[in-house]
Amino acid sequence: MCGIFAITSNRRNNIGETLVECAEKLTYRGYDTVGCATVYKNKIHLRKDKGKFDIVATKLRLSEMRGSKGIAQLRWATFGAPSKLNAQPHLDCDEDLCAAHNGNILNFLPLREQYTHEGHTVRSMNDGEICVHAIERYYDQLGDMVEAIQKGCNDLKGDYAFAVMHRDDDKVYAVKMGSSLFAGIGKGETCVSSDLPSILPITREILNIHDGELVILSPTTIEIRRISDGQLVERKPYTSDADIRVAQKGGYPHFMLKEIHEQVSSTRTLFSAIREPYISQFVGSLINANRVFFVACGSSYHAAVVGSYYFNELANVAVIPVIGGQFISHYGDAVRKGDVVVCVSQSGETKDVIDVVHHCRNRDVKILSIINVLGSTLTHLSDLYLPLGSGFEISVPATKTYTSQVTLFNYLAALSGQKREVLESTRAEEIITDLKTHLPALIEETISTNTIKARALAPYLSKYSHFYVLGYGITHGVALEGALKIKEVCYIVADGMYSSEFKHGPLSIVEEGYPIVFTIAPKDSEHLVNHLAEVECRGARIIITGEDHPLLRRYVKDDDFFLIPESNQYLSPILQAIPLQLMAYHLATYKNIDPDYPRNISKTLTVR
Ligand code: F6R
Repeated sequence: MCGIFAITSNRRNNIGETLVECAEKLTYRGYDTVGCATVYKNKIHLRKDKGKFDIVATKLRLSEMRGSKGIAQLRWATFGAPSKLNAQPHLDCDEDLCAAHNGNILNFLPLREQYTHEGHTVRSMNDGEICVHAIERYYDQLGDMVEAIQKGCNDLKGDYAFAVMHRDDDKVYAVKMGSSLFAGIGKGETCVSSDLPSILPITREILNIHDGELVILSPTTIEIRRISDGQLVERKPYTSDADIRVAQKGGYPHFMLKEIHEQVSSTRTLFSAIREPYISQFVGSLINANRVFFVACGSSYHAAVVGSYYFNELANVAVIPVIGGQFISHYGDAVRKGDVVVCVSQSGETKDVIDVVHHCRNRDVKILSIINVLGSTLTHLSDLYLPLGSGFEISVPATKTYTSQVTLFNYLAALSGQKREVLESTRAEEIITDLKTHLPALIEETISTNTIKARALAPYLSKYSHFYVLGYGITHGVALEGALKIKEVCYIVADGMYSSEFKHGPLSIVEEGYPIVFTIAPKDSEHLVNHLAEVECRGARIIITGEDHPLLRRYVKDDDFFLIPESNQYLSPILQAIPLQLMAYHLATYKNIDPDYPRNISKTLTVR
């Protein structure tokens, strides 16, 4: 949710151009409002409005803003409606200071009341504005930015990061308190951002910032201090080798389609990203645990659901998959030393998951993680993490990272089964070889077999405001994921559920022509004939993703059979998500929806 980018330079006085080039790469974090502030001739210039980055940037001519330092903010609205007034950055009362934040200030309302009572002009209903007044309050007394920020932060409660600047110096100050923040050191300029893609056009020299730290940027130096006591922190930058081309569309009309196709390579890079001895340590912790919980949200949760089936079948380990926001109320009092929590997160910033980590830390529970964004909050909080190595995933709907999560679970479950001696070594080796060497080509084949069918199905599906995606056994998580993709990018209520449950109520919705998508694992084809027959005799139009099977052919027209190439049964759930991703993508574009930026959504949800 929300993205901030701030820069100070001694090389440029047309900083608007740089703000636009860099901040545009944070679009996936929020597109309710956009704003840029620059300092030019000791005066703060502010332009902001409601809307997506490219539209607002053109309308307000943000790239023409002059100055050599500035802050940009892209907002995903929580406190305060998406409007020009609530757009960030915000000015203090006298227009000496300007700040923008990412995250939530939970005591925003009492502080707003207090500051207003003290005489501050609080203009908006957005919690980000409170940051600038909190600093102004102390700056007016102390005349020192560092001290004012330290004291201001004491007043703010919540998880956030912000950048702030004064009109009279060449510095930018930034704080990390629970939301992501990275700093970059370029030649004659330094910057901070919520995420790496926006820093790479400036520099590859990166400093990870930790919670509780204040960063003081001048054009040539970066100083890090602890907010609690002002102590200097020594930290060396590292050189990022992230591929910046990944953050460009590369000829595809949308990032979502590009990232669907990238699954061919991202399932390969996964295996070069994960390394011994960390894999062995990870597996060792899982198989020696008292209980194992997989904790995640959204698509990552669906990958975890598939993963829990792998662990049952391949390693005979009972894994409990839990939605991040549900964990504390469902299992929080019951977890104890000896249990292992595996957090699964693309961003490594999801607040519902981070809350679980903090809760479990107090109970001596080991925290393992599977994360795509390196340097994210979860990488710092985990005892051990495995990276997904998927590169940047820009499109808001997760595709390639979901597939890599499921692939990694298959791999870890096979290793765990081998280690526990419940899976023969030769069988484990076969499964691992399939993952490492055959999966990419099978993904490629699945994409090419199903693209035209997915496009052709869109006009029919678009006539429905709701339908079902049903899975069974190991494809249950796949059905949940397919339904989420359709909801998210097509604005259609697709309900993903366990297919044996369908007869316990939802069956009543079926009438002539009603679409029902089944995702069927090869070994369940015969068993699922019952479920197919129940809806077929009531007139449903059955759509299937699965391997070819004569029994299935009786219930589905050729055009509605999204074929998965023959493979070992554990690859099938990985491949089955792909036709569903394609269906969602083509249905979205048929409905003229931009699948990369579906309304109301942000890719990184740092709020509870
Ligand atoms: C859906 C989607 C979201 C995320 C969820 C968790 O396409 O992308 O449901 O999966 O917000 O995000 P991470 O994996 O970053 O924790």
